[in-house]
Amino acid sequence: MERIYQVVSEEDMARQKSFAAAVRELPHRPETYFIVTYGCQMNAHDSEKLAGILEEMGLIPAAKREEADFVIFNTCCVRDNAERRALGNITWLREVRKTRPELMIAVCGCMIQEPGMAEKILKQYRFINLAFGTANLHRFPEIMYEALESGRNTVKVDTQDVIPEGLPVQRLRKESAYLTIMYGCDNFCSYCIVPYVRGRERSREPSAVLREAEQLLKDGTKEIMLLGQNVNSYGKGLGNGITFAKLLKELDRMGVPRIRFMTSHPKDLSDELIDAMHDSKHILPQFHLPVQSGSDRILKKMNRHYTRDIYMERVRKLREAVPGIGLSTDIIVGFPGETEEDFRDTMNLVRDVGFDSAFTFIYSPRVGTLAASMEEQVAADISTRRIEELIALQEGIQQETLKRFLGQEEEVLVEGFSKRSDEAVSGKGRHAVSVTLNGEAADIGNIVKCRITALKHNTLMGERTAGVK
Ligand code: 5AD
Ligand code: SF4
Repeated sequence: MERIYQVVSEEDMARQKSFAAAVRELPHRPETYFIVTYGCQMNAHDSEKLAGILEEMGLIPAAKREEADFVIFNTCCVRDNAERRALGNITWLREVRKTRPELMIAVCGCMIQEPGMAEKILKQYRFINLAFGTANLHRFPEIMYEALESGRNTVKVDTQDVIPEGLPVQRLRKESAYLTIMYGCDNFCSYCIVPYVRGRERSREPSAVLREAEQLLKDGTKEIMLLGQNVNSYGKGLGNGITFAKLLKELDRMGVPRIRFMTSHPKDLSDELIDAMHDSKHILPQFHLPVQSGSDRILKKMNRHYTRDIYMERVRKLREAVPGIGLSTDIIVGFPGETEEDFRDTMNLVRDVGFDSAFTFIYSPRVGTLAASMEEQVAADISTRRIEELIALQEGIQQETLKRFLGQEEEVLVEGFSKRSDEAVSGKGRHAVSVTLNGEAADIGNIVKCRITALKHNTLMGERTAGVK
């Protein structure tokens, strides 16, 4: 089978490097930068790439956004509130510009990729110096050079679905690293804008993924978080027989201490993947499996391609293969046409599964998606009441599910000092639950063993049992 999507050519990437070098030499280029990030892990990782490129162009990080010469907003458009928050903050920065005319304002990410947004920026947000979409991220040096040289606002939005390899990355955390394995999404869930702004699903070559993982391992990374909108269908279209389960096995063999991944789609969660999780040493016993709704009728309208029964069967199989596995999910309430009965189905599913955590959202119509034009949009007060009920239910369930850790040993990858005390540190256990334990600065970035002694809200409290692993 022939590959449909092209990796950006080495010549093009080299051209971008020379633009970065040219920007570095420009006398009037900004000296400091600040990145404001909205949205998911994909965006957080894109911001690490933006930082990598900015540093290649000679800029250094500023401590505060008001002090930076160059502020870039990496936007999200999955729900209306993310978009409004970004636009509000961008407009606020315009005021700062009044006292610091040299300030450059840039906007990138999913919002820019929305149909009509480029025109809107050119007309209504003329104070923005440069804007580019997710498809143009690797061309950031060229766009920056053009903006600085011309002094005009520069807006670039492409739609080609390419894979850029070899971008510089400035990682926020050394011990836990993001690694993108695929871009885009082909699922077209009827509520979701992602396929329109992130383009068609395309997987990186396994050799490129493994090379990056090897480098991370050499650099001392303790945990790799594999990223993609639907990692379970990794490999589709590459034509070399690779699957997500096979990729995981390779990474497991390599010896990365901890492997996690996000996000999965229940329809693509294969037995092969469940077996790989069972057999592996390093894949963490946790799974983020968005269900979205517990009603078959709504799942069908959402174009999710599974039923409540299929979802429950996948959960049962996961729990059989990996006892004690930590399950988390995403749920939308107030999808068009959701009746009280449909909502009860969701509440019942949440009761039946017993998730360790759930991200709950009120449905937000996105222009251009199928659901936005569906009749029977649910009134805001009804959606608000439903989400409150759902959150209250999940909180109670979480208190019960987390009790299974009491008295158990847990390994924690320490992220930093606990907010409440400088004699306690906190991080994530193997099941992706937050743990706070007694510790010190030397623990940060390391995996530490502890026994779970108490549960405070949604955090496990641990007593250290042994040193660094
Ligand atoms: N409205 C509300 N929530 C949404 N999500 C995606 N699109 C929408 C929307 N239009 C949620 C889904 C997805 C998560 C990342 O965001 O639950 O899993
Ligand atoms: Fe959106 Fe569905 Fe793709 Fe997830 S799988 S990004 S919810 S279209």
